[in-house]
Amino acid sequence: MADFGHRTGYDRNYARWRADPLAFWQDAAREVDWFEPPATTFDPAQGIYGRWFPDGTLNTCHNAVDRHVEAGHGDRLALIHDSPVTSRVRRFTYGELRREVSAMAHVMSDLGVRMGDRVIIYMPMIPEAVFAMLACARIGAIHSVVFGGFASHELAVRIDDATPKLVVSASCGIEPGRIVEYKPLLDEAVALAHHKPDRCLILQRPERTCALGPRDVDMAAAIEGARDRDVMPCAPVPATHPAYILYTSGTTGQPKGVVRDTGGHVVALNWSMRAVYGIEPGEVFWAASDIGWVVGHSYIVYGPLFAGCATVLYEGKPVGTPDAGAFWRVIDSHDVKVLFAAPTALRAIIRDDPDGLYLQRHDLSRFRFLFLAGERSDPHSVAWAEDKLKVPVIDHWWQTETGWAITANPAGLGLLPVKHGSPGVPMPGYAIDILSDEGEILPAGTLGNVAIRMPLPPSCLPTLWNAEARMRSAYLERFPGYYNTADAGILDEDGYVYIMARTDDVINVAGHRLSTGALEEVIASHPAVAECAVVGVEDPLKGQVPWGFVVRKATAGLSDAIEGEIVALVRERIGPVAALKTVLVVDRLPKTRSGKILRGTMQKIADGTEWKMPAAIEDPAALEAVTDTIAAHRARVTRSNGKEQA
Ligand code: COA
Ligand code: AMP
Repeated sequence: MADFGHRTGYDRNYARWRADPLAFWQDAAREVDWFEPPATTFDPAQGIYGRWFPDGTLNTCHNAVDRHVEAGHGDRLALIHDSPVTSRVRRFTYGELRREVSAMAHVMSDLGVRMGDRVIIYMPMIPEAVFAMLACARIGAIHSVVFGGFASHELAVRIDDATPKLVVSASCGIEPGRIVEYKPLLDEAVALAHHKPDRCLILQRPERTCALGPRDVDMAAAIEGARDRDVMPCAPVPATHPAYILYTSGTTGQPKGVVRDTGGHVVALNWSMRAVYGIEPGEVFWAASDIGWVVGHSYIVYGPLFAGCATVLYEGKPVGTPDAGAFWRVIDSHDVKVLFAAPTALRAIIRDDPDGLYLQRHDLSRFRFLFLAGERSDPHSVAWAEDKLKVPVIDHWWQTETGWAITANPAGLGLLPVKHGSPGVPMPGYAIDILSDEGEILPAGTLGNVAIRMPLPPSCLPTLWNAEARMRSAYLERFPGYYNTADAGILDEDGYVYIMARTDDVINVAGHRLSTGALEEVIASHPAVAECAVVGVEDPLKGQVPWGFVVRKATAGLSDAIEGEIVALVRERIGPVAALKTVLVVDRLPKTRSGKILRGTMQKIADGTEWKMPAAIEDPAALEAVTDTIAAHRARVTRSNGKEQA
């Protein structure tokens, strides 16, 4: 690896980590509370690639809640639920948070949840979802939060993989303009799943209540009686005990259950709050994401609370709830110092308020940093935000698998110059090389596979739930000695990383990670579909959107409804979040002579970027026909947009 010289506190810290990684993480581990401090910082002989802090014991909930109360900060603000979709704002101090979490833990324990049991949380962005996550941690149970935009089938797949004793849910979620009834989705998922949870703990929301069945328990009634009980103690768990499982898209319809270690998670996230985000205890941090995603786990719930900050749980959208000034209102009214958002949210705001007029209605003078992640930040949006907000706008790159930033521009270690288009430099813990497909290290400025030298730092996945072999094959076997990020990118002369594209079939739709393979599995199940391919096509708002190309079965007849049926099928099986709106029927799919569908070329044609006829193509006419179909579709869209505007 190149030596990029010493520039700032960042270089000193990175060099300190490089010189002695164990001492670096030992120091970070001293900043959190242990029941039994670890004598060993890292044991390379344990687990798949070694384990962090293997002989320490601690508790996640103690570090997020109780330690602040015990340190005399019980009156400090911990959680702000800001919900424009219900016109409610609720605030909880650390003392109140402990009471609510302890009550929820009593309820779970009464329902038979014990250390190591799994609990699925399928909830909208409400405080009870956070209480449930922390209550699991208090008991030593392992939560798995499932994003509310997923449909029953996806929930059922997760129920079967995690085999939860309990599911925690709510009667409904609220999307702009419609109420999403969670209970029928949950009931259907339980019916579809082979594994049945013992109980479902349901919060009735006033906007839409639901009928409860024999398996269901009314949350409000159960919690009411538990609030006056003694505070439930936090159970000491080994540092290697799983804190949670979070499912993410892989290459097939079977999602990957990313496991998070308890010890590494607390240590790395606690370290990151000050070093990466430059925030201090008592200040307000806001990650405008959803608890169903990794950003929500790490930076709505755990990171800010480990660090003694107040965190904002926002139940709304960047635009439309009620307008493009929503983010600036939240920052102003709760004195948010650092906002973490997805570039797609910024693009939605710019689209609705290009001159930043809503900004002028709010006092943002105390706001310090805007962080962006989840997808590539387009330089135009970054420049807009810098100009309008007058604060550093910092792109940073990470994955569900790592749980925290692989690269960033660390606000707390002394900012480096911002380079538009780059999510910064490697954080301590990560040594990055750009590799050729043959595994050779490529020189600066060359596009290749972005790989992280093993071992991974604390908080990164030790394994996949129930799928050790898949952990090895998905991440560790392609480039021995490295973790394969499945991102393609460049490292420049100054050590800045540029992330350009995925090397697998994952696409990024409005900051949500989706598998085209999973979408194809659903489309292929339509009885009239002989073959299909899904590609991610550039979209000005969402970054990418999926397009489906389908070949009908010869026997299928000529129903006009197939496109609409496929859109509905994907929505029903995966959920609205899949955002599949475009289905194009073609006579055949273009393939190589060895039978591989030319998805990359189809994507380039759909994006309108330069493409070459692949040398190995079997039937050039098939590709020409796809090109014509895409052109006809584009022309139709342009005509209908024109009509709308007229
Ligand atoms: N529960 C139920 N449905 C949900 C949902 C949830 N929690 N979240 C999204 N959906 C639905 C939406 O209502 C929408 O349904 P529709 O097709 O009926 O309109 C669909 O899923 C797609 O949602 P989304 O991708 O969010 O698109 P949108 O057009 O509603 O909004 C943005 C566009 C840019 C405003 C929105 O995507 C956004 O705020 N993105 C931020 C992404 C983010 O935070 N990512 C986390 C990584 S940091
Ligand atoms: P997720 O696991 O949902 O967080 O998605 C991780 C993937 O999103 C990464 O592998 C990248 O492909 C993409 N991604 C996340 N952050 C960035 C970023 N700052 N720049 C470019 N791509 C990003």
